[in-house]
Amino acid sequence: MTRVLSVASECAPVVKTGGLADVVGALPRALSAFGDDVKTLLPGYRSVMAELKGSKPVLSFDDLFGGPGRVLRGKAAGLELLVLDAPHLFDRAGNPYHYEGGHDWPDNPERFAALSFAAARLCGEGVGTWRPDVVHGHDWQAGFIAEYLSEPRIPFVFTIHNIAFHGMAPPDWLGALRLNEGRFTQDHFEFWGQISALKAGLMGADAITTVSNTYAEELMTPEFGMGMDGVMRARAGVVSGIVNGIDTEVWDPASDPKIKPYKTPRGKRANKSALRKEFGLGETTGPLCVLVSRLTQQKGIDLLLDALPALLSRGGQLALLGSGEPGAEVALLERAAAEPNMAVRIGYDEALSHRMMAGGDAILVPSRFEPCGLTQLYGLRYGALPVVSLTGGLADTVINANPAALAKGVATGLQFSPVTSGALARALGRLCDLFADNETWTTMQKNAMKQPVGWESSAAEYSALFSRLRSH
Ligand code: ADP
Ligand code: GLC
Repeated sequence: MTRVLSVASECAPVVKTGGLADVVGALPRALSAFGDDVKTLLPGYRSVMAELKGSKPVLSFDDLFGGPGRVLRGKAAGLELLVLDAPHLFDRAGNPYHYEGGHDWPDNPERFAALSFAAARLCGEGVGTWRPDVVHGHDWQAGFIAEYLSEPRIPFVFTIHNIAFHGMAPPDWLGALRLNEGRFTQDHFEFWGQISALKAGLMGADAITTVSNTYAEELMTPEFGMGMDGVMRARAGVVSGIVNGIDTEVWDPASDPKIKPYKTPRGKRANKSALRKEFGLGETTGPLCVLVSRLTQQKGIDLLLDALPALLSRGGQLALLGSGEPGAEVALLERAAAEPNMAVRIGYDEALSHRMMAGGDAILVPSRFEPCGLTQLYGLRYGALPVVSLTGGLADTVINANPAALAKGVATGLQFSPVTSGALARALGRLCDLFADNETWTTMQKNAMKQPVGWESSAAEYSALFSRLRSH
Protein backbone atom coordinates (compact mmCIF):
# COMPACT_ATOMS: atom_id res chain seq x y z
CA MET A 1 0.00 0.00 0.00
CA THR A 2 1.52 3.29 -1.12
CA ARG A 3 0.26 6.76 -0.24
CA VAL A 4 0.54 8.90 -3.35
CA LEU A 5 0.11 12.64 -3.81
CA SER A 6 -0.96 13.15 -7.43
CA VAL A 7 -0.49 16.68 -8.79
CA ALA A 8 -2.05 17.92 -12.01
CA SER A 9 -3.62 20.88 -13.75
CA GLU A 10 -6.78 18.97 -14.77
CA CYS A 11 -8.96 16.22 -13.36
CA ALA A 12 -12.18 14.87 -14.90
CA PRO A 13 -15.01 15.46 -14.40
CA VAL A 14 -14.20 18.63 -12.46
CA VAL A 15 -11.94 20.34 -15.00
CA LYS A 16 -10.99 18.94 -18.39
CA THR A 17 -9.48 20.14 -21.63
CA GLY A 18 -8.15 16.77 -22.82
CA GLY A 19 -7.10 13.25 -21.98
CA LEU A 20 -4.85 14.30 -19.09
CA ALA A 21 -7.98 15.01 -17.07
CA ASP A 22 -9.43 11.57 -17.78
CA VAL A 23 -6.25 9.88 -16.60
CA VAL A 24 -5.86 11.98 -13.47
CA GLY A 25 -9.54 11.44 -12.63
CA ALA A 26 -9.62 7.67 -13.21
CA LEU A 27 -6.23 6.44 -11.98
CA PRO A 28 -6.81 6.97 -8.22
CA ARG A 29 -9.83 4.67 -8.22
CA ALA A 30 -7.99 2.07 -10.29
CA LEU A 31 -5.03 2.23 -7.88
CA SER A 32 -7.27 1.82 -4.86
CA ALA A 33 -7.98 -1.71 -6.11
CA PHE A 34 -4.30 -2.40 -5.37
CA GLY A 35 -4.55 -0.87 -1.91
CA ASP A 36 -2.87 2.40 -2.89
CA ASP A 37 -4.20 5.59 -1.40
CA VAL A 38 -4.05 8.57 -3.77
CA LYS A 39 -4.87 12.18 -3.00
CA THR A 40 -5.09 14.61 -5.92
CA LEU A 41 -3.97 18.24 -5.73
CA LEU A 42 -5.56 20.59 -8.28
CA PRO A 43 -5.51 24.36 -8.85
CA GLY A 44 -8.54 26.14 -7.42
CA TYR A 45 -9.85 27.46 -10.73
CA ARG A 46 -13.10 29.40 -10.42
CA SER A 47 -15.13 26.40 -11.66
CA VAL A 48 -13.42 24.02 -9.21
CA MET A 49 -14.00 26.34 -6.26
CA ALA A 50 -17.68 26.63 -7.23
CA GLU A 51 -18.09 22.85 -7.06
CA LEU A 52 -16.05 22.21 -3.92
CA LYS A 53 -18.13 21.05 -0.95
CA GLY A 54 -17.35 20.68 2.75
CA SER A 55 -13.91 22.17 2.36
CA LYS A 56 -11.46 22.48 5.24
CA PRO A 57 -8.10 24.26 5.11
CA VAL A 58 -5.09 22.00 5.60
CA LEU A 59 -2.21 24.35 4.76
CA SER A 60 -1.82 28.09 4.31
CA PHE A 61 0.67 30.49 2.73
CA ASP A 62 0.95 34.21 3.48
CA ASP A 63 2.62 34.89 0.18
CA LEU A 64 2.21 32.28 -2.51
CA PHE A 65 3.77 33.89 -5.57
CA GLY A 66 2.13 37.25 -5.07
CA GLY A 67 -0.83 36.69 -2.77
CA PRO A 68 -2.18 34.51 -0.01
CA GLY A 69 -3.04 30.87 -0.65
CA ARG A 70 -4.47 27.83 1.10
CA VAL A 71 -4.77 24.14 0.38
CA LEU A 72 -8.34 23.00 0.99
CA ARG A 73 -9.51 19.47 1.40
CA GLY A 74 -12.99 18.83 0.05
CA LYS A 75 -15.25 16.99 -2.34
CA ALA A 76 -16.24 17.84 -5.89
CA ALA A 77 -18.15 15.69 -8.39
CA GLY A 78 -17.75 12.68 -6.12
CA LEU A 79 -13.95 12.99 -5.88
CA GLU A 80 -11.96 13.68 -2.71
CA LEU A 81 -9.66 16.50 -3.66
CA LEU A 82 -6.97 18.82 -2.39
CA VAL A 83 -7.44 22.21 -3.98
CA LEU A 84 -5.04 25.11 -4.09
CA ASP A 85 -7.16 28.15 -3.33
CA ALA A 86 -5.13 31.17 -4.48
CA PRO A 87 -7.52 33.69 -6.05
CA HIS A 88 -4.76 35.92 -7.45
CA LEU A 89 -3.62 32.97 -9.58
CA PHE A 90 -6.72 30.93 -10.34
CA ASP A 91 -9.92 32.92 -9.84
CA ARG A 92 -10.39 33.80 -13.50
CA ALA A 93 -12.95 33.14 -16.21
CA GLY A 94 -12.30 30.61 -18.92
CA ASN A 95 -9.76 27.95 -19.72
CA PRO A 96 -7.11 26.69 -17.24
CA TYR A 97 -4.28 27.84 -19.50
CA HIS A 98 -5.47 30.70 -21.67
CA TYR A 99 -7.84 33.57 -22.01
CA GLU A 100 -10.02 34.43 -24.97
CA GLY A 101 -8.33 33.99 -28.33
CA GLY A 102 -6.15 31.15 -27.05
CA HIS A 103 -3.43 33.37 -25.51
CA ASP A 104 -1.59 31.87 -22.53
CA TRP A 105 -2.08 33.67 -19.23
CA PRO A 106 1.19 35.63 -18.93
CA ASP A 107 1.75 34.42 -15.36
CA ASN A 108 1.35 30.70 -16.21
CA PRO A 109 4.88 29.91 -15.01
CA GLU A 110 4.03 31.35 -11.58
CA ARG A 111 0.55 29.81 -11.45
CA PHE A 112 1.87 26.30 -11.88
CA ALA A 113 5.06 26.93 -9.93
CA ALA A 114 2.69 27.74 -7.07
CA LEU A 115 0.91 24.42 -7.59
CA SER A 116 4.23 22.57 -7.45
CA PHE A 117 5.38 24.60 -4.46
CA ALA A 118 2.23 23.73 -2.52
CA ALA A 119 2.66 20.08 -3.52
CA ALA A 120 6.20 20.01 -2.18
CA ARG A 121 4.99 21.48 1.13
CA LEU A 122 2.28 18.81 1.32
CA CYS A 123 4.94 16.16 0.80
CA GLY A 124 6.68 17.34 3.94
CA GLU A 125 3.71 18.28 6.11
CA GLY A 126 1.06 15.87 4.88
CA VAL A 127 -2.66 16.22 5.48
CA GLY A 128 -3.54 15.51 9.09
CA THR A 129 -1.89 12.19 9.85
CA TRP A 130 -1.65 11.28 6.14
CA ARG A 131 1.87 11.59 4.69
CA PRO A 132 2.58 10.71 1.06
CA ASP A 133 5.24 8.07 0.34
CA VAL A 134 5.54 9.14 -3.30
CA VAL A 135 4.63 12.28 -5.25
CA HIS A 136 3.31 11.82 -8.80
CA GLY A 137 3.43 14.89 -11.05
CA HIS A 138 1.75 15.15 -14.46
CA ASP A 139 3.23 17.21 -17.30
CA TRP A 140 5.15 20.50 -17.04
CA GLN A 141 2.68 22.05 -14.62
CA ALA A 142 4.09 19.74 -11.94
CA GLY A 143 7.73 19.79 -13.09
CA PHE A 144 9.08 22.20 -10.47
CA ILE A 145 8.11 19.79 -7.70
CA ALA A 146 11.58 18.35 -8.30
CA GLU A 147 13.11 21.72 -7.38
CA TYR A 148 10.93 22.51 -4.38
CA LEU A 149 10.99 19.17 -2.52
CA SER A 150 12.88 19.51 0.74
CA GLU A 151 15.11 16.92 2.39
CA PRO A 152 14.52 14.13 3.17
CA ARG A 153 12.96 13.89 -0.29
CA ILE A 154 10.23 11.45 -1.08
CA PRO A 155 10.44 9.78 -4.52
CA PHE A 156 9.10 11.85 -7.42
CA VAL A 157 7.41 10.15 -10.38
CA PHE A 158 6.93 12.37 -13.41
CA THR A 159 4.49 11.39 -16.16
CA ILE A 160 4.73 12.88 -19.63
CA HIS A 161 1.33 13.15 -21.28
CA ASN A 162 2.59 15.44 -24.00
CA ILE A 163 6.19 16.60 -24.43
CA ALA A 164 5.15 19.41 -26.77
CA PHE A 165 4.54 21.73 -23.80
CA HIS A 166 7.76 22.85 -22.11
CA GLY A 167 6.55 25.29 -19.46
CA MET A 168 9.10 27.98 -20.35
CA ALA A 169 9.97 31.24 -18.62
CA PRO A 170 12.73 33.78 -19.25
CA PRO A 171 15.81 33.59 -16.99
CA ASP A 172 14.95 36.82 -15.16
CA TRP A 173 12.03 34.93 -13.59
CA LEU A 174 14.38 32.82 -11.49
CA GLY A 175 13.69 34.85 -8.34
CA ALA A 176 9.97 35.19 -8.96
CA LEU A 177 9.74 31.42 -9.37
CA ARG A 178 11.74 30.83 -6.18
CA LEU A 179 14.26 28.71 -8.01
CA ASN A 180 17.85 28.15 -6.96
CA GLU A 181 20.02 30.20 -9.36
CA GLY A 182 22.86 27.76 -8.91
CA ARG A 183 20.76 25.09 -10.55
CA PHE A 184 20.06 27.14 -13.68
CA THR A 185 22.27 24.74 -15.63
CA GLN A 186 21.89 22.11 -18.29
CA ASP A 187 21.79 19.39 -15.64
CA HIS A 188 18.70 20.85 -14.04
CA PHE A 189 16.13 23.22 -15.53
CA GLU A 190 18.02 25.41 -18.00
CA PHE A 191 16.91 24.80 -21.58
CA TRP A 192 18.42 26.87 -24.40
CA GLY A 193 18.93 29.82 -22.08
CA GLN A 194 15.38 29.66 -20.67
CA ILE A 195 13.82 28.13 -17.59
CA SER A 196 11.80 24.99 -18.38
CA ALA A 197 9.46 23.40 -15.86
CA LEU A 198 9.27 20.31 -18.04
CA LYS A 199 13.03 19.88 -17.98
CA ALA A 200 13.07 20.40 -14.20
CA GLY A 201 10.66 17.46 -13.92
CA LEU A 202 12.57 15.28 -16.37
CA MET A 203 15.95 15.89 -14.74
CA GLY A 204 14.72 15.67 -11.17
CA ALA A 205 12.40 12.68 -11.34
CA ASP A 206 13.27 9.37 -9.74
CA ALA A 207 11.16 7.68 -12.41
CA ILE A 208 9.70 9.04 -15.63
CA THR A 209 6.70 7.41 -17.19
CA THR A 210 4.86 8.20 -20.35
CA VAL A 211 1.51 7.05 -21.59
CA SER A 212 2.48 4.32 -24.09
CA ASN A 213 5.49 2.18 -24.92
CA THR A 214 5.83 3.45 -28.44
CA TYR A 215 5.78 7.09 -27.25
CA ALA A 216 8.46 6.21 -24.68
CA GLU A 217 10.67 5.13 -27.59
CA GLU A 218 9.65 7.98 -29.89
CA LEU A 219 10.54 10.56 -27.25
CA MET A 220 14.19 9.58 -27.57
CA THR A 221 14.22 10.67 -31.23
CA PRO A 222 14.58 14.17 -32.71
CA GLU A 223 11.41 13.64 -34.73
CA PHE A 224 9.17 13.30 -31.66
CA GLY A 225 11.27 14.63 -28.75
CA MET A 226 10.38 18.28 -29.46
CA GLY A 227 13.88 19.33 -28.48
CA MET A 228 13.87 17.21 -25.32
CA ASP A 229 15.09 14.02 -27.02
CA GLY A 230 18.65 14.55 -25.71
CA VAL A 231 17.29 14.94 -22.18
CA MET A 232 15.17 11.83 -22.65
CA ARG A 233 18.14 9.82 -23.86
CA ALA A 234 20.16 11.02 -20.88
CA ARG A 235 17.40 9.78 -18.58
CA ALA A 236 16.56 6.63 -20.54
CA GLY A 237 17.43 4.41 -17.57
CA VAL A 238 14.44 5.64 -15.56
CA VAL A 239 11.92 5.94 -18.42
CA SER A 240 9.06 3.51 -18.95
CA GLY A 241 5.83 3.45 -20.91
CA ILE A 242 2.53 2.63 -19.18
CA VAL A 243 -0.40 2.75 -21.56
CA ASN A 244 -3.51 4.66 -20.48
CA GLY A 245 -6.77 2.93 -19.79
CA ILE A 246 -10.27 4.37 -19.83
CA ASP A 247 -12.98 4.38 -17.20
CA THR A 248 -14.98 1.36 -18.31
CA GLU A 249 -17.93 2.28 -16.11
CA VAL A 250 -18.37 5.72 -17.64
CA TRP A 251 -17.65 4.27 -21.08
CA ASP A 252 -19.81 1.15 -21.16
CA PRO A 253 -22.08 0.68 -24.17
CA ALA A 254 -24.16 -1.86 -22.22
CA SER A 255 -25.22 0.65 -19.57
CA ASP A 256 -24.36 4.14 -20.87
CA PRO A 257 -27.33 6.41 -20.04
CA LYS A 258 -26.29 8.86 -22.77
CA ILE A 259 -27.04 6.36 -25.60
CA LYS A 260 -29.41 3.52 -26.49
CA PRO A 261 -27.43 0.80 -24.66
CA TYR A 262 -26.24 -2.30 -26.52
CA LYS A 263 -24.14 -5.41 -26.01
CA THR A 264 -23.56 -6.48 -29.61
CA PRO A 265 -22.65 -4.59 -32.80
CA ARG A 266 -26.23 -4.96 -34.01
CA GLY A 267 -27.30 -2.61 -31.19
CA LYS A 268 -25.38 0.20 -32.84
CA ARG A 269 -27.97 0.54 -35.60
CA ALA A 270 -30.47 2.58 -33.61
CA ASN A 271 -27.67 4.81 -32.35
CA LYS A 272 -26.40 5.29 -35.89
CA SER A 273 -29.79 6.44 -37.18
CA ALA A 274 -30.14 8.81 -34.24
CA LEU A 275 -26.66 10.21 -34.81
CA ARG A 276 -27.30 10.75 -38.53
CA LYS A 277 -30.45 12.66 -37.64
CA GLU A 278 -28.68 14.69 -35.03
CA PHE A 279 -26.01 15.72 -37.56
CA GLY A 280 -28.48 16.19 -40.42
CA LEU A 281 -26.90 13.42 -42.50
CA GLY A 282 -28.91 11.23 -44.89
CA GLU A 283 -28.78 7.49 -45.53
CA THR A 284 -25.77 6.24 -47.49
CA THR A 285 -24.16 2.85 -48.04
CA GLY A 286 -20.66 3.61 -46.74
CA PRO A 287 -19.33 3.83 -43.17
CA LEU A 288 -20.33 6.69 -40.89
CA CYS A 289 -16.99 7.96 -39.53
CA VAL A 290 -16.75 10.10 -36.42
CA LEU A 291 -13.98 12.23 -34.99
CA VAL A 292 -13.86 13.90 -31.55
CA SER A 293 -10.86 16.08 -30.86
CA ARG A 294 -9.11 19.24 -29.87
CA LEU A 295 -8.41 21.00 -33.14
CA THR A 296 -4.66 21.53 -33.18
CA GLN A 297 -1.79 20.75 -35.53
CA GLN A 298 -1.09 17.56 -33.51
CA LYS A 299 -4.40 16.01 -34.47
CA GLY A 300 -3.88 16.00 -38.26
CA ILE A 301 -7.31 17.37 -39.17
CA ASP A 302 -5.80 19.07 -42.23
CA LEU A 303 -4.65 15.65 -43.47
CA LEU A 304 -8.20 14.40 -43.14
CA LEU A 305 -9.62 17.30 -45.16
CA ASP A 306 -7.21 16.42 -47.97
CA ALA A 307 -8.01 12.70 -47.78
CA LEU A 308 -11.78 13.11 -47.47
CA PRO A 309 -12.71 12.40 -51.12
CA ALA A 310 -11.49 8.82 -50.60
CA LEU A 311 -14.27 8.38 -48.04
CA LEU A 312 -17.06 10.49 -49.49
CA SER A 313 -16.69 9.13 -53.03
CA ARG A 314 -17.43 5.64 -51.64
CA GLY A 315 -20.63 6.66 -49.89
CA GLY A 316 -18.92 7.23 -46.54
CA GLN A 317 -19.81 10.05 -44.16
CA LEU A 318 -18.05 12.14 -41.56
CA ALA A 319 -19.46 13.61 -38.33
CA LEU A 320 -16.94 15.69 -36.43
CA LEU A 321 -16.99 17.30 -32.99
CA GLY A 322 -14.14 19.56 -31.95
CA SER A 323 -12.89 22.92 -30.89
CA GLY A 324 -9.57 24.67 -30.92
CA GLU A 325 -7.54 26.70 -33.38
CA PRO A 326 -9.86 29.24 -35.03
CA GLY A 327 -8.40 28.58 -38.49
CA ALA A 328 -9.15 24.86 -38.20
CA GLU A 329 -12.70 25.54 -37.01
CA VAL A 330 -13.41 27.79 -39.99
CA ALA A 331 -11.85 25.36 -42.48
CA LEU A 332 -14.02 22.53 -41.16
CA LEU A 333 -17.23 24.55 -41.19
CA GLU A 334 -16.59 25.76 -44.73
CA ARG A 335 -15.89 22.27 -45.98
CA ALA A 336 -18.96 20.85 -44.24
CA ALA A 337 -21.11 23.52 -45.88
CA ALA A 338 -19.92 22.27 -49.26
CA GLU A 339 -20.20 18.52 -48.58
CA PRO A 340 -23.63 16.95 -48.02
CA ASN A 341 -22.05 13.93 -46.30
CA MET A 342 -19.94 15.80 -43.82
CA ALA A 343 -21.26 17.56 -40.70
CA VAL A 344 -19.39 19.48 -38.04
CA ARG A 345 -20.17 20.64 -34.50
CA ILE A 346 -17.79 23.17 -33.06
CA GLY A 347 -17.71 23.04 -29.28
CA TYR A 348 -17.04 20.77 -26.38
CA ASP A 349 -19.83 18.28 -25.61
CA GLU A 350 -19.14 15.23 -23.46
CA ALA A 351 -22.60 13.65 -23.95
CA LEU A 352 -22.46 14.06 -27.72
CA SER A 353 -19.05 12.37 -27.74
CA HIS A 354 -20.70 9.26 -26.22
CA ARG A 355 -23.46 9.30 -28.84
CA MET A 356 -20.82 9.55 -31.55
CA MET A 357 -18.95 6.46 -30.31
CA ALA A 358 -22.25 4.57 -30.14
CA GLY A 359 -23.50 5.66 -33.57
CA GLY A 360 -20.24 5.73 -35.51
CA ASP A 361 -19.03 2.80 -37.61
CA ALA A 362 -15.46 4.07 -37.39
CA ILE A 363 -13.51 6.63 -35.37
CA LEU A 364 -10.76 8.56 -37.11
CA VAL A 365 -7.56 9.59 -35.29
CA PRO A 366 -5.08 10.85 -37.91
CA SER A 367 -2.67 12.43 -35.38
CA ARG A 368 0.85 13.52 -36.35
CA PHE A 369 1.91 12.32 -32.91
CA GLU A 370 -0.21 10.87 -30.11
CA PRO A 371 1.32 10.00 -26.73
CA CYS A 372 -1.58 7.64 -26.02
CA GLY A 373 -4.94 8.87 -27.32
CA LEU A 374 -8.19 7.94 -25.64
CA THR A 375 -10.83 8.31 -28.33
CA GLN A 376 -9.60 5.21 -30.17
CA LEU A 377 -10.07 3.31 -26.89
CA TYR A 378 -13.65 4.58 -26.54
CA GLY A 379 -14.15 3.60 -30.19
CA LEU A 380 -12.93 0.05 -29.56
CA ARG A 381 -15.23 -0.38 -26.60
CA TYR A 382 -18.23 0.95 -28.54
CA GLY A 383 -17.49 -1.02 -31.72
CA ALA A 384 -16.57 2.11 -33.74
CA LEU A 385 -13.47 0.78 -35.45
CA PRO A 386 -10.42 3.05 -35.15
CA VAL A 387 -8.59 4.32 -38.21
CA VAL A 388 -5.37 5.69 -36.76
CA SER A 389 -1.90 6.85 -37.70
CA LEU A 390 0.88 4.46 -36.74
CA THR A 391 2.33 6.49 -33.88
CA GLY A 392 2.50 6.56 -30.07
CA GLY A 393 -0.37 4.91 -28.24
CA LEU A 394 -2.30 4.55 -31.49
CA ALA A 395 0.34 2.06 -32.60
CA ASP A 396 0.03 0.13 -29.32
CA THR A 397 -3.74 -0.12 -28.90
CA VAL A 398 -5.12 -0.97 -32.35
CA ILE A 399 -4.59 -4.25 -34.23
CA ASN A 400 -4.23 -3.34 -37.88
CA ALA A 401 -6.41 -5.23 -40.35
CA ASN A 402 -3.51 -6.48 -42.47
CA PRO A 403 -3.90 -9.80 -44.26
CA ALA A 404 -2.29 -11.76 -41.40
CA ALA A 405 -4.49 -10.22 -38.68
CA LEU A 406 -7.58 -10.69 -40.85
CA ALA A 407 -6.69 -14.31 -41.53
CA LYS A 408 -6.28 -14.91 -37.81
CA GLY A 409 -9.48 -12.98 -37.08
CA VAL A 410 -7.86 -10.63 -34.55
CA ALA A 411 -7.97 -7.24 -36.30
CA THR A 412 -9.65 -4.34 -34.50
CA GLY A 413 -9.02 -1.35 -36.78
CA LEU A 414 -6.77 0.22 -39.39
CA GLN A 415 -3.38 1.88 -39.08
CA PHE A 416 -1.71 4.03 -41.71
CA SER A 417 1.84 5.13 -42.20
CA PRO A 418 3.51 7.46 -43.04
CA VAL A 419 1.29 10.14 -41.53
CA THR A 420 0.32 11.78 -44.81
CA SER A 421 -2.97 12.54 -46.48
CA GLY A 422 -2.12 10.00 -49.20
CA ALA A 423 -1.67 7.16 -46.70
CA LEU A 424 -4.81 8.23 -44.86
CA ALA A 425 -6.77 8.26 -48.12
CA ARG A 426 -5.62 4.70 -48.82
CA ALA A 427 -6.69 3.67 -45.31
CA LEU A 428 -10.13 5.22 -45.85
CA GLY A 429 -10.40 3.24 -49.07
CA ARG A 430 -9.52 0.05 -47.21
CA LEU A 431 -12.07 0.97 -44.56
CA CYS A 432 -14.79 1.18 -47.20
CA ASP A 433 -13.75 -2.23 -48.58
CA LEU A 434 -13.92 -3.81 -45.14
CA PHE A 435 -17.23 -2.15 -44.36
CA ALA A 436 -18.70 -3.67 -47.51
CA ASP A 437 -17.70 -7.15 -46.27
CA ASN A 438 -20.30 -7.68 -43.61
CA GLU A 439 -18.86 -10.77 -42.01
CA THR A 440 -15.33 -9.43 -41.64
CA TRP A 441 -16.65 -6.11 -40.37
CA THR A 442 -18.78 -7.75 -37.68
CA THR A 443 -15.87 -9.94 -36.57
CA MET A 444 -13.70 -6.86 -36.24
CA GLN A 445 -16.38 -5.07 -34.22
CA LYS A 446 -16.71 -8.02 -31.88
CA ASN A 447 -12.93 -8.18 -31.43
CA ALA A 448 -12.80 -4.46 -30.74
CA MET A 449 -15.59 -4.57 -28.16
CA LYS A 450 -13.83 -7.42 -26.34
CA GLN A 451 -10.39 -5.79 -26.24
CA PRO A 452 -9.42 -4.92 -22.66
CA VAL A 453 -9.16 -1.13 -22.48
CA GLY A 454 -9.69 -0.59 -18.76
CA TRP A 455 -7.14 0.48 -16.18
CA GLU A 456 -6.49 -2.88 -14.47
CA SER A 457 -3.14 -3.88 -15.94
CA SER A 458 -1.76 -0.34 -16.23
CA ALA A 459 -2.79 0.54 -12.67
CA ALA A 460 -0.93 -2.59 -11.58
CA GLU A 461 2.19 -1.23 -13.31
CA TYR A 462 1.90 2.17 -11.62
CA SER A 463 1.28 0.48 -8.30
CA ALA A 464 4.36 -1.72 -8.69
CA LEU A 465 6.47 1.30 -9.65
CA PHE A 466 5.29 3.30 -6.63
CA SER A 467 5.93 0.42 -4.30
CA ARG A 468 9.41 -0.20 -5.73
CA LEU A 469 10.38 3.46 -5.28
CA ARG A 470 8.97 3.64 -1.77
CA SER A 471 10.95 0.67 -0.56
CA HIS A 472 14.24 1.91 -2.02
P1 ADP B 1 -5.67 14.92 -25.97
O1 ADP B 1 -5.49 14.75 -24.52
O2 ADP B 1 -4.39 15.10 -26.72
O3 ADP B 1 -6.68 15.95 -26.31
P2 ADP B 1 -6.91 12.26 -25.86
O4 ADP B 1 -7.46 11.41 -26.95
O5 ADP B 1 -6.01 11.63 -24.90
O6 ADP B 1 -6.24 13.53 -26.56
O7 ADP B 1 -8.09 12.83 -24.97
C1 ADP B 1 -9.04 13.72 -25.44
C2 ADP B 1 -10.22 13.66 -24.49
O8 ADP B 1 -10.99 14.85 -24.64
C3 ADP B 1 -11.16 12.52 -24.75
O9 ADP B 1 -11.81 12.18 -23.55
C4 ADP B 1 -12.13 13.14 -25.77
O10 ADP B 1 -13.34 12.48 -25.82
C5 ADP B 1 -12.27 14.51 -25.18
N1 ADP B 1 -12.63 15.56 -26.14
C6 ADP B 1 -11.80 16.23 -26.98
N2 ADP B 1 -12.47 17.15 -27.69
C7 ADP B 1 -13.76 17.06 -27.29
C8 ADP B 1 -14.96 17.76 -27.64
N3 ADP B 1 -14.96 18.73 -28.54
N4 ADP B 1 -16.10 17.42 -27.01
C9 ADP B 1 -16.09 16.41 -26.08
N5 ADP B 1 -15.02 15.72 -25.72
C10 ADP B 1 -13.86 16.05 -26.30
C1 GLC C 1 -2.12 14.08 -23.79
C2 GLC C 1 -1.89 13.37 -25.12
C3 GLC C 1 -2.80 12.18 -25.34
C4 GLC C 1 -2.96 11.35 -24.08
C5 GLC C 1 -3.39 12.24 -22.93
C6 GLC C 1 -3.56 11.47 -21.62
O1 GLC C 1 -3.04 15.10 -23.88
O2 GLC C 1 -1.98 14.27 -26.21
O3 GLC C 1 -2.30 11.37 -26.38
O4 GLC C 1 -3.89 10.32 -24.28
O5 GLC C 1 -2.43 13.22 -22.70
O6 GLC C 1 -2.38 10.82 -21.23
